[in-house]
Amino acid sequence: MPRRAAPAAEPPADRLFPKAVKARGTRKVGLGWAATLPPLAGYQMTSEQTPVLWPLISGDGLPPWGAEMGYDVLSGGKFYCDPMGWVLDDTIPVTNPNIFIFGKPGRGKSAMVKAFMLRMIRYGYRSLVLGDVKDEYEDIARFLRVEPFRIGPGLPGRINPLDFGPLGLDWQTQTREEQHRRATVTFNRWLFLIRGLVGSQGVAFTPTEERVINKVLRHLTGWTAGSSRLAPVTIPKVWAALDAPSGELVADCRYSSRQDFFDGTRQLRDALGALCEGSLQGMFDTESTFHPDWREPIQTLSLRSLHDTGNNVAVGIALMCLNSWGQGMREVAAAGDRRIVLRDEAWLQTRLSLEAVMALDANLRLSRTEGDIQVVTYHKPSDPLSAGDQGSQAAQIAKDLLNLSDVRILMGQDEAVAAELGALLGLSDLQQGVVTGWAMQEKGRALWMVGDQRYKVQTLLTPLEKRLTWTNDAIDVA
Ligand SMILES: Nc1ncnc2c1ncn2[C@@H]1O[C@H](COP(=O)(O)OP(=O)(O)OP(=O)(O)O)[C@@H](O)[C@H]1O
Ligand SMILES: [Mg+2]
Repeated sequence: MPRRAAPAAEPPADRLFPKAVKARGTRKVGLGWAATLPPLAGYQMTSEQTPVLWPLISGDGLPPWGAEMGYDVLSGGKFYCDPMGWVLDDTIPVTNPNIFIFGKPGRGKSAMVKAFMLRMIRYGYRSLVLGDVKDEYEDIARFLRVEPFRIGPGLPGRINPLDFGPLGLDWQTQTREEQHRRATVTFNRWLFLIRGLVGSQGVAFTPTEERVINKVLRHLTGWTAGSSRLAPVTIPKVWAALDAPSGELVADCRYSSRQDFFDGTRQLRDALGALCEGSLQGMFDTESTFHPDWREPIQTLSLRSLHDTGNNVAVGIALMCLNSWGQGMREVAAAGDRRIVLRDEAWLQTRLSLEAVMALDANLRLSRTEGDIQVVTYHKPSDPLSAGDQGSQAAQIAKDLLNLSDVRILMGQDEAVAAELGALLGLSDLQQGVVTGWAMQEKGRALWMVGDQRYKVQTLLTPLEKRLTWTNDAIDVA
């Protein structure tokens, strides 16, 4: 049995460290004496070169402002997240405040976002959840005394994805130049949405279709006729205009006859017609009944009843409609209106088609408001790739999409995903190991990529947040 070392006598107060310990340790039982010294190799390098060998060595850390997310495992210090503050600070290599979160299901992506939203309220941020497919943001909304808005088959709520949004306000009083600017932004957003919707039905959207849709939208709103007030448009109206085209539209689209027009636009009409019937009927085909109160701390659009029908294509299309609508709503934000705009489970949308990826890409890109932090969650970095063949165009668009955010949070992933972390996000083997190993051991663990800096962070939830973010009810019951 090892003998217990006698408790060391208290050193005198003026000599806390009475003598230096020799390299081999102290030659006494229980004090760790080594007979031979371990071979040590010495290297000399500059501090610029060290990160090559120790890429995760803790750097300067980020400034202590914004949401306290948890702790930086390497430095032991608190870890704060303030994307907008990072953009404004030139010492941090972040030029846009968008955040992409990746992680295997159940690793805590949504929980992290919820904690972030709650903790940013203190800094004046409000949240907009564009499509909550599990109704999991309802608890937070009710906690903040906001009634969530529900959309689904048979429910009374309606959203018109072709809403003008605030760009349509005070239209008559704007100068002609301003009207032109606003019209361009709005028509572009609508075009991207329709391209995505049509593409998700497997119909090609060529420049011919683009021209037809552009003309229809301009005709329907009265923009072509130079109206002082623009008429509201919905998807069924677009479809109806194609189904019973005016002579003017036929000529404008350069078709020689109505029959020629019908032949040329058959697929486009059928694709749009399919959207006005079936599982999405009565959700996105009339004017919006939801008029968000932007002063509320959170706005959430629940989609669970649609999700529960098991029709994933319909969910993807619904997300696309909500994204476009939400982007329109945020086009003109009042000064100081800071918002976290969340697109949870974006993979449901982007796996529909390449056009659906492009629609999300356009939503993020066209977003011209200053105060918004766009948050997108995915399962894995290659999710957008599932939209098309592993061909170069799909790959390029997926990569481009990733480039729209300077902050990427990588929660736990399976070993099988390691290679794509390297290929798509440029992680070294060691960093891949952090994501597939360390981050898998505990919920809330993630490798944060802030510009070119990397942090190993454990997110902590308060007991209240744990209750509000609990998503295991169904599993619990089972
Ligand atoms: N940091 C954390 N500490 C403790 N529990 C956590 C933490 N993060 C998440 N959880 C718990 O783990 C469960 C799953 O989390 P969450 O729903 O956020 O996962 P997810 O990654 O969004 O999954 P999915 O991809 O299925 O949406 C929740 O019940 C949540 O409360
Ligand atoms: Mg989730």
